[in-house]
Amino acid sequence: MLDNFEPVVRFLAHYQGDEYVKGWAELWDKGDCLDWDKGFPNPALEDTLIQRRSTIGDPIVEDAEGNQYRRKALVPGCGRGVDVLLLASFGYDAYGLEYSHSAVETCKKEESETGGRYPIRNPSFGRGSVTFVQGDFFDDAWLDTLGLQRYAFDLVYDHSFFCALDPSLRPRWALRQTQLLVSNGHLVCLEYPRHRDPSEMGPPWTASSEDYWKHLTQPGEDVFNSKGSPNGNGLVRVAHWQPDRTHENGKDPNGNIQDRVAIWCRRDTARKTFCKDC
Ligand SMILES: C[S@@+](CC[C@H](N)C(=O)[O-])C[C@H]1O[C@@H](n2cnc3c(N)ncnc32)[C@H](O)[C@@H]1O
Repeated sequence: MLDNFEPVVRFLAHYQGDEYVKGWAELWDKGDCLDWDKGFPNPALEDTLIQRRSTIGDPIVEDAEGNQYRRKALVPGCGRGVDVLLLASFGYDAYGLEYSHSAVETCKKEESETGGRYPIRNPSFGRGSVTFVQGDFFDDAWLDTLGLQRYAFDLVYDHSFFCALDPSLRPRWALRQTQLLVSNGHLVCLEYPRHRDPSEMGPPWTASSEDYWKHLTQPGEDVFNSKGSPNGNGLVRVAHWQPDRTHENGKDPNGNIQDRVAIWCRRDTARKTFCKDC
């Protein structure tokens, strides 16, 4: 069942246009209407990391010289950071990005307090590092803070971030995803909320599978006025399915799962190395 988003919608309505991100920060500072925050990772992510390993690849791989390295995973708008902790337990060097300073503090507290809740998932990979960073998804300052450049992440996980942004930002959201992935990287989108009435104010803004498809195949474009055909920059959707498990708010009132999971990769390398299904 969808949560009661009334308080979040009413609060964020005061922050229009580019101010919206300050609204998120104020919301975290206030700390009393964080209804989307379930306190644990979405089981659909856990299942994806196990069941779709042949598509996503291993968290430790070899470079062209045969040297092993740990791959990097990013969760933009990571909230409390639980998905970041899960990704590290699967062996990724995991990064959580949050605009809100309070959220970053919450992430760090979560990491120090939840110790045993994220056991190592595969002894051959061990645990990756965990880094939380404050910054705006749309600019590069946080990459500088991390000592990284664009095209640095092998895996990006987007859950409740696409729907948290004003829909006018969706073209920039899609373009930015293409600037963060390494050439053979993958973007995993947990599509939510597909079953919210599109006439309702967000966030969360309704996010249909078609919305993700339109934007990610034509990053940066005004998809409503374009020809609607994928552009050269566009990502390729290599898998799309209904997960067996998800958070309760991803189900309709009859208990049917409405969420979907999609895996995307870059067109230029869609047929290479890790992505056997591309
Ligand atoms: C709906 S919450 C989802 C949090 C988390 N992904 C989850 O599933 O619990 C969206 C988060 O995105 C963060 N956020 C919004 N705009 C952002 C931006 N431009 N850069 C970084 N974080 C942002 C907000 O502070 C908020 O914590």
